[in-house]
Amino acid sequence: MTPGKFITFEGGEGAGKTTQAKMLAEALEGAGIETLMTREPGGTFGAEAIRDLVLEGTSDRWSGMTELLLMYAARLDHVEKLIKPALERGVWVISDRFSDSSMAYQGYARELGPEKVQALHDAVMDGFEPDLTILFDIDPILAQKRVETRGENLSRFDAESIAFHNTLRNAFLEIAKANTDRIFTVDAAASRDGVQTRILFAVSQKYPELAGKLGGSA
Ligand code: TYD
Repeated sequence: MTPGKFITFEGGEGAGKTTQAKMLAEALEGAGIETLMTREPGGTFGAEAIRDLVLEGTSDRWSGMTELLLMYAARLDHVEKLIKPALERGVWVISDRFSDSSMAYQGYARELGPEKVQALHDAVMDGFEPDLTILFDIDPILAQKRVETRGENLSRFDAESIAFHNTLRNAFLEIAKANTDRIFTVDAAASRDGVQTRILFAVSQKYPELAGKLGGSA
């Protein structure tokens, strides 16, 4: 047990994770908790270099297994150099994506199978897991509209078909069902404030000492 807590945000593309992660970081800071926001793939110098490798180019650039290995190389660097040292100092860490993304994207959507992903996860992570995960669930068609409206650059993952994104959505829901003690699912189609209220509720339910200190209506 480290003095800091590790919270991850997961879900498909265009679900609004990044905005909400920033809002939670602000709420925690407001409650007097030092908070670090990070993302995957990335978060450290080495992991950001791997991010460029993995997100650029066409969707057939890497096989599913190569992609998985790159994700875990980036993740181990991130955990060893940034996340664990921060948690040990008592800092709370919020990561925009973590290992559930590897299970959903590489394990299910890219069809490597959950067993292989879990085996690599166990070998590399050695028992290290998030304390709490917020899963953003949204219909992929609505999510795609949001991404288009924001006029964002479509990375090679966004070019995948709606069927791929539906597989991904179901995979995340399966993972959540198997980890109800860790994963809290929010309906990401709700308004920005509505989603934030649910997240603050989940965090104060998990950490009752924070109830009433996080602002919002939680
Ligand atoms: P990013 O632009 O950060 O997407 P988002 O804003 O939706 O989080 O790109 C990260 C992409 O990497 C995203 O498509 C999901 C994918 N990914 C994996 O396939 N496996 C992983 O383990 C991780 C962490 C991300």
